[in-house]
Amino acid sequence: MSVMPDQPLVKVEGVEKSFVHEGRTVPVLKGIDLRVDEGEMLCIVGPSGAGKSTLLHLLGTLDLPSAGQIFYGGDDVTTYSSARLAAFRNHSIGFVFQFHHLLPEFTALENVMMPGRIRGEGKGALRERAEALLLEVGLKERLTHRPGELSGGEQQRVALARALVMNPRLVLADEPTGNLDTTTGRSMHELLFGLNENRGTTFLVVTHSRELAGQMPRVVHMRDGRIDSDEKSPRRNGS
Ligand SMILES: Nc1ncnc2c1ncn2[C@@H]1O[C@H](COP(=O)(O)OP(=O)(O)O)[C@@H](O)[C@H]1O
Ligand SMILES: [Mg+2]
Repeated sequence: MSVMPDQPLVKVEGVEKSFVHEGRTVPVLKGIDLRVDEGEMLCIVGPSGAGKSTLLHLLGTLDLPSAGQIFYGGDDVTTYSSARLAAFRNHSIGFVFQFHHLLPEFTALENVMMPGRIRGEGKGALRERAEALLLEVGLKERLTHRPGELSGGEQQRVALARALVMNPRLVLADEPTGNLDTTTGRSMHELLFGLNENRGTTFLVVTHSRELAGQMPRVVHMRDGRIDSDEKSPRRNGS
């Protein structure tokens, strides 16, 4: 994806999403407009059922909106073929989703290398990137551990390293610290902020953590399928 200087990284316009459940149409997203600039760090908060995960899926091009458009760097990705979408996702977006589990039969290192292997990349440079990332997330001593031999927090950090291995512009994270204790959660938060500062990666994070939301330079609040506030604060990045 190439981003023109005057274009936001992501632009969501008039997005609606309904699901059909037992013959009834259930509206879940009821008109979402959102712009995210390159290098931003923002979180989405709101009560359970507000539509946060649904919005993240649409942003991740894992599902199509019922109405509206989603632009990346000016390109409407809702018109892409599924082959083009798969390639776009693989190199532009990193996912830290709870259902995106690590593969249990592979080591931490192999899990982190997986997106590159799927793309047909050779092992050499990919391995170096994966090792460097595992070092960055503090898992230098855990490269050959399998997920079952790692704590929950360590697994989340492996998932984060995996999300970053293709050097995506955007990382989408759904409750990345949802299952972690306070201390482990805190170190994960620090990691996200550090990666945003050092690499300029854009992070869009759904969270229930008041602590994380309190540190975020931008907080989008969703309720009942709509955005009911979108506030920037100088607390952290000054943006
Ligand atoms: N595949 C689906 N079929 C029917 N309803 C769904 C589906 N996915 C989500 N929903 C409904 O959409 C609403 C929003 O879900 P979700 O986006 O997961 O909320 P949040 O992440 O904010 O808790 C919920 O009421 C949920 O039941
Ligand atoms: Mg959710």
